[in-house]
Amino acid sequence: MTGYPVRPEVLKLKPYVPGKPIVEVQQEYGLQEVIKLASNENPLGPSPLAVDAMRQAAAEVHIYPEATARALRQALAAQVNLPEDWLMVGNGSDELLRLLAGSYIRPGDRVVLPGCSFPNYRTVSEIFGADVTEVPLVGETMDLQAMAAQAPGARVIFLCRPNNPTGGVFPETAFRHFMAAVPAETLVLIDEAYHEFDATGFDSVDLLRSFPNLIVTRTFSKAYGLAGIRVGYGMARPEIWQPCYRVREPFSVNVPAQAAALAALQDTAHLTATVENNRLGLQFLTELCGEMGLPYTPSQANFLLIDVGRPATEVFEALLRRGVIVRPMGGSGRPTAIRVTVGTPAELEQFAAALREALAK
Ligand SMILES: Cc1ncc(COP(=O)(O)O)c(C=O)c1O
Repeated sequence: MTGYPVRPEVLKLKPYVPGKPIVEVQQEYGLQEVIKLASNENPLGPSPLAVDAMRQAAAEVHIYPEATARALRQALAAQVNLPEDWLMVGNGSDELLRLLAGSYIRPGDRVVLPGCSFPNYRTVSEIFGADVTEVPLVGETMDLQAMAAQAPGARVIFLCRPNNPTGGVFPETAFRHFMAAVPAETLVLIDEAYHEFDATGFDSVDLLRSFPNLIVTRTFSKAYGLAGIRVGYGMARPEIWQPCYRVREPFSVNVPAQAAALAALQDTAHLTATVENNRLGLQFLTELCGEMGLPYTPSQANFLLIDVGRPATEVFEALLRRGVIVRPMGGSGRPTAIRVTVGTPAELEQFAAALREALAK
């Protein structure tokens, strides 16, 4: 530390630990072939239409981007059948979480969030001095009853559906009861980063019309294969977004990013192939767990949480030596679990062989 006073809220924060990058594993273990199944990225890559759109947009980067990503908001609005000012686009959905926290959370405000979920909810809340109440999961998804009991006086409640890292989902009826119990002045954010993989038909857009305090965020980083270019979007009433536009950087979503997301949205064939690859991949992984006698959590997302029955860091290391990067989940309170992103069929075969060897020891 420099000796310059750092805000106490910042000193409390735990730095985000990203999935281990491929080049790091290549260098540390002297390996050529390394696969990454650690950050829930799209194993089929970006849509070719998005890549073309980025190439074309590259010739236009001397001009600032359209600040509110209007064309993209219009395309999204048409897709979900909402007015365009109900949509806000961000530099990843992470930016929207930060903007919402920065617009609504005052020091000492109470924020309710799920235990064993995406760590950024706590980070964005604590940056702005929130007093965080964490409610443990029940049955691998949010305990909506327990969270509703914490709602009176809370400024924001974060939910994640499907939940990262468990892949679990709460039922729509339970959610409607929850919303009816939460005071109207408490904001409820559902993070739907994995929405496109969810086969349960949960319709948060319909719920947005009924509940003015509801916000839904989604992303182009997962099913749309654009994690590296950073585009996410949120849906809520326009008055919820107005303060966020004051807080944000004016040009946070760059020209190629807007073009790529717009093109990716049009490439329904790529999205369908992605979702189908995921369905088959989850089937492969759950069958593998069945054969190996490893408990797992049923998943509606593009990853599987597997209990390897021994310290996950050891299995993580053993897999790294075999050129496979997964995520050990000790940091989320699951010291014997690894989270594995659904890869291509060849990647999953490689993972299966590596896991068998790692656990044979
Ligand atoms: C639940 C969840 N929300 C949000 C994000 C961040 O998404 P983005 O890339 O849109 O910032 C992730 C990324 O891993 C995630 O798992």
